[in-house]
Amino acid sequence: MEKRKVTFRIRRFNPKKDSQPYYQEYEVEVVKGMTILEALQFIKDNIDPTLSFRAFCRSAICGSCSVKINGYPKLACKTQVFGELEVYKTDILTIEPIDNMEVIRDLIVNWDSAIEKMEKMRPYLIPDPEVVPKTLDEECKVYPNELKKFDRFTDCILCTTCYSVCGIVKVDSNYGGPFPLARVYRFAVDPRDALKKERAKIGYTFDMWNCVRCEKCADVCPKHVAPVNGIMKLRGLSIDIGLKNNPGARHVAAFYKSLLESGMLNEVLLPLRTKGIKGVLENLPMGIKMILKGKAHSPIMKPIAEHEGLRKVMKAAMEVE
Ligand code: SF4
Ligand code: SF4
Ligand code: FES
Repeated sequence: MEKRKVTFRIRRFNPKKDSQPYYQEYEVEVVKGMTILEALQFIKDNIDPTLSFRAFCRSAICGSCSVKINGYPKLACKTQVFGELEVYKTDILTIEPIDNMEVIRDLIVNWDSAIEKMEKMRPYLIPDPEVVPKTLDEECKVYPNELKKFDRFTDCILCTTCYSVCGIVKVDSNYGGPFPLARVYRFAVDPRDALKKERAKIGYTFDMWNCVRCEKCADVCPKHVAPVNGIMKLRGLSIDIGLKNNPGARHVAAFYKSLLESGMLNEVLLPLRTKGIKGVLENLPMGIKMILKGKAHSPIMKPIAEHEGLRKVMKAAMEVE
């Protein structure tokens, strides 16, 4: 069986005795197929019993073992050591706790802030009495076309990996975060739910329009949930129920209007349509620079040649949604 000596450089921190986190190195002989979690367990059982990390199922189900491996968050129980050595072309792996949450000890972080926020967003079924039977003798059917709308989001295992990479979570303490907001969407389109689209108001309260669509949450999710897609759809539902009076919704509407009018983005009218006169004044210095450098176009744009075809595609896409 193939073996390799690997150095695990692990970030240690015990708030009861350490003033600062520090890195400790452990050399382990790793066999092919060993996971990062098995390596951590080996260190704890054979080298240093004080090493602390969290894990339960060892099967990528409970969502408790997410750690940063050479800076990238992954489930320790799902990630093989040899695979990481191949990716980074190294025999040294740095293991650290995930970001955006307080470190309790070594690799264990405190999920409370994320989970408390999620609880406030009521991400559970509130049965619609018109749809859900009162007794267990009757079935409540969810048809495949209905399930398709939220199926992907039910795969979330609450590992908080997406939450740990989100830059908006870092700067906006009211922001719901990727997986909680995706859960709000999941119930908003469940035909058995009493609140349905009204759930978009919850997303609105928890700053869903602040998501910058960087897609980092989708990139790191070990279950391929792509929470950002749920957030985008929740935004759509909020517009459907008339929550349009905010810069985010107006920005989307301005993009859409601009493409319908000419097939091109009208950057001159975009600030006016999104933020009104305030937006124009904010963008005035850049606008003047653009005019002086000959980069600004006229606010009245001539439609592109394929404009009619584009309008048809846009309208068809809206109907599919
Ligand atoms: S969406 Fe993915 S990364 Fe985020 S908590 Fe759920 S499973 Fe983890
Ligand atoms: S796409 Fe949105 S929710 Fe996801 S990480 Fe980026 S800002 Fe956060
Ligand atoms: S130990 Fe449960 S997901 Fe890794």
